Amino acid sequence: MPVLARQPAFTVSRGQFPDDFVFGTSTSAYQIEGSSFGGCGLSHWDTFSATPGNVVRSENGSIACDHYHRWEGDLDLVRDAGLQAYRFSTSWARVMPKGCGAINQEGLDFYDKLVDGMLERGIAPHLTLYHWEMPSALEAIGGWRNRDVTDHYADYAQAVTKRLGDRVASIATFNEPWCITWYSHYYGAHAPGLRDICAASRVAHFVPLAHSKAIAAMRALGLKNLGIVCNFEHISPLDNSPGSIKAAKVAEGIYNRWFLGGLFKAEYPADIVDLIGTHLPSGWEQDMADIAAPLDWLGINYYTRALISEGDTQPGNALPIQVGNKGDLPRTEMDWEVYPEGLGNILEWIRDTYTGDLPLAITENGMANKDKLVNGAVDDQERIAYLDAHFKQALAAIDKGIPLRAYFVWSLMDNFEWALGYDKRFGMVHVDFDSFERTPKASYHALRTMLSAL
Ligand code: FCB
Repeated sequence: MPVLARQPAFTVSRGQFPDDFVFGTSTSAYQIEGSSFGGCGLSHWDTFSATPGNVVRSENGSIACDHYHRWEGDLDLVRDAGLQAYRFSTSWARVMPKGCGAINQEGLDFYDKLVDGMLERGIAPHLTLYHWEMPSALEAIGGWRNRDVTDHYADYAQAVTKRLGDRVASIATFNEPWCITWYSHYYGAHAPGLRDICAASRVAHFVPLAHSKAIAAMRALGLKNLGIVCNFEHISPLDNSPGSIKAAKVAEGIYNRWFLGGLFKAEYPADIVDLIGTHLPSGWEQDMADIAAPLDWLGINYYTRALISEGDTQPGNALPIQVGNKGDLPRTEMDWEVYPEGLGNILEWIRDTYTGDLPLAITENGMANKDKLVNGAVDDQERIAYLDAHFKQALAAIDKGIPLRAYFVWSLMDNFEWALGYDKRFGMVHVDFDSFERTPKASYHALRTMLSAL
């Protein structure tokens, strides 16, 4: 397999980006906070990870990076890197332990302090309301398969933003609807671990519906800079056979076109409705105008590409049976191919097909690496090369007039990488999961140098 490039420093410079371009870093609540602290309720990740076989070595986020107690030092790291923005998420079960009704004041207070802590350090807070943590009490009544939960979600969104909305720079309703829908309810790889086309189809509609209800609730509070974060892969056929071409179109429709179609065109792609329409919840057509209510920005998470062949789909109905194949590009520790060009292509396609002048942000991009702490240092030159190549794509997109305004590196620090546990290290800061000591890696230092030079 081709090896990953190593590179000691960035070749792009801060000065090549527009002055008002924002560099930040992203995390999410369950992956870093420690869900056993501070009166947090159970989420479906606590229950999913407590079920044998779901998470590598049965690891979970009960302590995670202990960020709940170490958040001040973590925000210092964001500031000291020269980053201007921090994308974080609030945990629904921390704010509302049962998912609706009573509020855990300690939970809201935590996020209140966190936001003030960012502002004190000159860091702009970018809030995500749902980064995959359905309160278990609501999962028990069907989670995203149950239309009622969309109302509970809007109540939660309003409760959080009533408290934090005056100080955050932007708000995203959801992180990665594709993962919430297909990865979690069809491939069964993430909580709640279902493998069911009916469940996935309901979620594919109820997540956009919940998004629209939360947007309406937040607009009613007078809040601005509201958006959503979707994930994309660069998807193409593995070969030129008609079967592969057709399979790639379905995969791309489900992954890349479904949610954007709903959000920006008030219609799901017809070729995918043909495939899953019988499983969609009744009356879904009546929700489409609400789902497409105007947004202020779109967040894009991009990591890799997928090559699709006929064998990746189910004979008969063309539904995907696996996420895709790999080509011959170098791969990260996630076994994901490094394909920076895909980011440029996707940005252009999104702008041309859906969003036009709407501001775009890259809300996640980064890589897992076999990082080793040696004599107090981590020499993750592969991560510098990876980010540098993707930064170049961002620059090229800006040069083409694409309204790309921000870039958030995933992630600030190593954390709980969901079903893959703590082994997959995505951080620019190394975390020792016994002592919780943080050690900035070479990529952190290189980024700081890049951001401070003009
Ligand atoms: C994204 C998730 C994020 C992290 C990265 C590696 O899909 O949003 O939480 O797991 O992948």
